[in-house]
Amino acid sequence: MTDPILRVRDLSIAYRTGRKESVTAVSGVDLDLYEGQSLALVGESGCGKTTLGLGLLRLLPGLGEITSGSLAYRLKDGSTADLLQMRKEQLRRFRWNEAAMVFQGAMNAFNPVIKIWEHFADTLRDHADGKKWTKAAVEARAGELLETVRLDPDRVLQSYPHELSGGMKQRALIALAIALDPQVLVLDEPTTALDLLTQRSIVQQLHELRKRFGFTMVFITHDLGLAAELADRVATMYAGRIIETGSARDIFHGPKHPYTAGLINAVMPVKGDRPALESIPGYPPSLKAMPDGCAFNPRCAFATDECRRDRIELDLLTERPLGMTHAAACLHHDQVRFARKEAANV
Ligand SMILES: Nc1ncnc2c1ncn2[C@@H]1O[C@H](COP(=O)(O)OP(=O)(O)OP(=O)(O)O)[C@@H](O)[C@H]1O
Ligand SMILES: [Mg+2]
Repeated sequence: MTDPILRVRDLSIAYRTGRKESVTAVSGVDLDLYEGQSLALVGESGCGKTTLGLGLLRLLPGLGEITSGSLAYRLKDGSTADLLQMRKEQLRRFRWNEAAMVFQGAMNAFNPVIKIWEHFADTLRDHADGKKWTKAAVEARAGELLETVRLDPDRVLQSYPHELSGGMKQRALIALAIALDPQVLVLDEPTTALDLLTQRSIVQQLHELRKRFGFTMVFITHDLGLAAELADRVATMYAGRIIETGSARDIFHGPKHPYTAGLINAVMPVKGDRPALESIPGYPPSLKAMPDGCAFNPRCAFATDECRRDRIELDLLTERPLGMTHAAACLHHDQVRFARKEAANV
């Protein structure tokens, strides 16, 4: 069996919130991601998806800090590197060449006062070792990339960001992220804030890009329909932990954590009858006041004294190859019945 392209062990991330205070936003995450796979990180707002995504590229903001764990990438040359041991210069080379990110709210990520071609020029020149990127070379590479996301290079390269629609900006950002042919692409809510038709075309484009360039993808979304469509593998996060992980098929056809089942049940089916939506009662806990035991227990219909007392670790349910193993952090996983298989439309 080949090694994973990304191996994450026991990764925890905290934000400093005061001089001596911090909150742990991501706790003890283990992940193996294999070449060419696409992993969806799903969960409610605030559960730590963006923090984990940023952590995977060591792009956390100043107050964020990786407090434990290891993060090993298999690089393009076949060697393995622990990202947590990399120094500034190595990291600079790593980002965009080996792994790149399309940030949440990315449509505002462009600098409003410089034209699109200059964004490409900055990225290519900042991250490409040795190669001299003349304006003509930048325009040729950027043009090629923009065409792959079905944008007209002549128009887009000479535009300022505000001259493009939201969907065009998102596409241009995806093109920019893959400018240096990264092996891993992390996309944070790539279609949020776009209308449905534009969302569809971005999804279509991501499919095509993956087929063409074969990159490994981590995408963050609270849209389960999108996860069902784009992911080979799904990890559900709750209060900073991965509480269920498995192949998209295992997760959508037989979720084993009550929270994942609740998320899927809350999705309106596209086909078939339209039963009343079931929401999950209550709210996610504050990171500063986490309940004892399983963090989901106050909202869970299955919770018992044990759940209120002990933290529940991810338990292996089904062994499958290439990291597709189905695991859930729930003592009562055998009681979780999935109400509506068709809900996720897979
Ligand atoms: N810069 C920061 N300083 C302090 N706390 C932060 C910071 N960024 C995020 N957090 C906290 O970390 C937790 C996880 O936030 P994160 O943005 O990773 O969640 P998310 O799952 O991406 O949410 P959303 O779906 O809303 O984007 C939240 O409780 C958030 O308040
Ligand atoms: Mg987020």
